[in-house]
Amino acid sequence: MLKGKKIVLGITGGIAAYKAVEIVSRLRKAGAEVYVIMTKEAAEFVTELTFREISGHSVSSDMWSKVTHWNVEHIALANLADLMLIVPATANIIGKTAAGIADDLLTTTLLATKAPVFFAPAMNSNMYENPIVQHNMKTLQEHGWHMIPPATGHLACGTAGIGRLPEAIDVFTVIEDFFSAVQVLKGKKVLVTAAGTIEPIDPVRFIGNRSSGKMGYAIAREAQRRGAEVVLVSGPSALQEPAGMRVIHVETTAQMREAVIKEFSDCNVVIKAAAVADYRAKEIAENKIKKSETTMSIMLEKNPDILQELGSLKKSGQILVGFAAETQKLLEYAKTKLLKKNLDFIVANDITKPNAGFNAETNLVKILSRDGAVEELPLMSKKELAGIILDHVIKKMEINSKK
Ligand code: PMT
Repeated sequence: MLKGKKIVLGITGGIAAYKAVEIVSRLRKAGAEVYVIMTKEAAEFVTELTFREISGHSVSSDMWSKVTHWNVEHIALANLADLMLIVPATANIIGKTAAGIADDLLTTTLLATKAPVFFAPAMNSNMYENPIVQHNMKTLQEHGWHMIPPATGHLACGTAGIGRLPEAIDVFTVIEDFFSAVQVLKGKKVLVTAAGTIEPIDPVRFIGNRSSGKMGYAIAREAQRRGAEVVLVSGPSALQEPAGMRVIHVETTAQMREAVIKEFSDCNVVIKAAAVADYRAKEIAENKIKKSETTMSIMLEKNPDILQELGSLKKSGQILVGFAAETQKLLEYAKTKLLKKNLDFIVANDITKPNAGFNAETNLVKILSRDGAVEELPLMSKKELAGIILDHVIKKMEINSKK
């Protein structure tokens, strides 16, 4: 998908500038031509020589240096770009661009280009969360420019929090996905739930299940690839957080419910792949429970059924997809859930078969539609299945739009 694409990559003055080396390398290996612009500040962290060697082109940095491309340089680069990627994007470049300032080669090229622009912000958490920076990012997004959300973790300033540049592979994947997707879900908001919720018993123990999040994360990535604005509500998962989408981390069913209900009203599609805990401990012990008797009981009480609640709140045009993980009477139980929860589709997941269901790379399902149709699918990767589920959703959207 990247073969022959011309990518203008802007590097600004942040410690994460070194990660741009791997990004350039990955883009080139995938067949893209990469032209690097470095700001004066970026040159404090990385050298032009590195990027000249890795990109195979001379690096541009100065408005007034000898011209290396035809025409006026910033216009030449702006015009040749199929996509511009700013990595890392400092608060400074985001602020200047949002304010329409063009005082160096990178900012002038950004204002002159008609190509899609992706910023990968990376900075200290306090700076990232500063309302002015948030406002500037929102301004850019309102003008159709894209943000690749930063990751959370250890930061160069010694603290931990949001603001890390995602791994090179994640930034690369966002760009690759952008070119490979047919952007049919552009302008649509898709909410996906993934992984299992957990319910605490005492400060160290919880009730949980074996969901890894693989199915839900695959759906979220596929929806993003097709152009949707994706919100992923995830229970605890060891998977790498997907870049380029909003991820809301939750633990309990009550937290998942709160996050989902808050996002629901302007969602076009909700896909609930999460394995939600149906019960929680009636009382959570304040201290670690000591072992004494040979048996013990924990009184459980019912959790709310989030999907059923969404089904009752659903407005016309909203599409609701549920999953049903079953060990017996697959079709019968799935059909009951489809109707009871007022869903458009239910993905009936046979978890008795090898390589299907919880924590597997592949899955084996039947997709039941509200009109009574049942599509029986062979064992396939969760990525492939995600695509088929979204094909159903898109077809349903088309039918709805003709009504
Ligand atoms: O995460 P992986 O390891 O990749 O595994 C994927 C999976 C097996 C978890 C997934 O494919 C799957 O089948 N998810 C549904 C799991 C399940 O147990 O569903 P259920 O039959 O309990 O619930 C039916 C539907 O109602 C689900 O969409 C569920 O998200 C939703 N639900 C259930 C209970 C509840 N209290 N609230 C809900 O919203």
